[in-house]
Amino acid sequence: MKVEELIVYGKEYIHSDYVKMLLGDILNLNPLELLNHLDEYVDEDKVKLFKEEMKSLKEGKPIQYVLGHVNFFGNKFYVNKNVLIPRFETEELVEKTIEYINKYFNRPIDIIDLGCGSGVIGLTLEKKVSTKSVDLIDISKEALEVTKENIKNLKSKANTIESNFFENVDKKYDLIISNPPYIKTNEEIEVIVKENEPHLALYAGVDGLDCYKKIIENIKPHMKDRCIIAFEIGCDQTEDIKKLINKYLDDVRIEVKKDLSNRDRMIFIFKNIE
Ligand SMILES: C[S@@+](CC[C@H](N)C(=O)[O-])C[C@H]1O[C@@H](n2cnc3c(N)ncnc32)[C@H](O)[C@@H]1O
Repeated sequence: MKVEELIVYGKEYIHSDYVKMLLGDILNLNPLELLNHLDEYVDEDKVKLFKEEMKSLKEGKPIQYVLGHVNFFGNKFYVNKNVLIPRFETEELVEKTIEYINKYFNRPIDIIDLGCGSGVIGLTLEKKVSTKSVDLIDISKEALEVTKENIKNLKSKANTIESNFFENVDKKYDLIISNPPYIKTNEEIEVIVKENEPHLALYAGVDGLDCYKKIIENIKPHMKDRCIIAFEIGCDQTEDIKKLINKYLDDVRIEVKKDLSNRDRMIFIFKNIE
């Protein structure tokens, strides 16, 4: 079949933007470039793959899992059903964190990314700031397989550790960063998310705070004298997380940051950094 015929065929099933995205990905062309190849014939095996992927999309699979990759902060990351699909809010967390690292550190730093999933946070920071070490932690063996694939693809030197947050970690860090699961057990979420993304990456007990509790309770031995802690948070969790911080940590400064939609989405904790 020709490119144009496949686009027409695809539009019968799914939105044309998705058709162009899928076909472009298979043919290694961006959606605009596709338009310059409308008359070209596509190999049979690629036609077959295109039809299978379209079927998965139509059945409700997220486009990122169908494509098998996402763009995060300008880098291509492999993803599959064992990791959370990285979100735009997390790019905002990474962007703000880079700003603070550049402002407060003028030497290579030790970083830990807790609940790393695909590794987008830690691996992006490794590319953007000067690092001494980057440790990527997850409790899920399957998620860590994805992290390792991204380490390889991005030629990273980061380490992976299978661990229940700090359980198998014995180091101190300049930056501790995490986007842990924070959805309440009974919270209504989009069907496409609930049915496709790993529940281990989403849910964190009745109040959505289980992971923050586990991390903050055990964080002190892993903080260098001068350090930053950065969390992505649910927009209604600010006060509860502040209480947890004040219960377990003294002499720290807390900053809450909003996302582009003006909702509280990040908490930064500074120790000995004014
Ligand atoms: C919300 S996802 C974040 C993934 C990735 N950091 C991102 O921002 O796209 C949370 C991750 O935490 C991991 N996780 C859940 N419970 C954990 C635990 N007790 N210890 C370590 N990792 C955990 C999950 O497997 C999942 O990969």
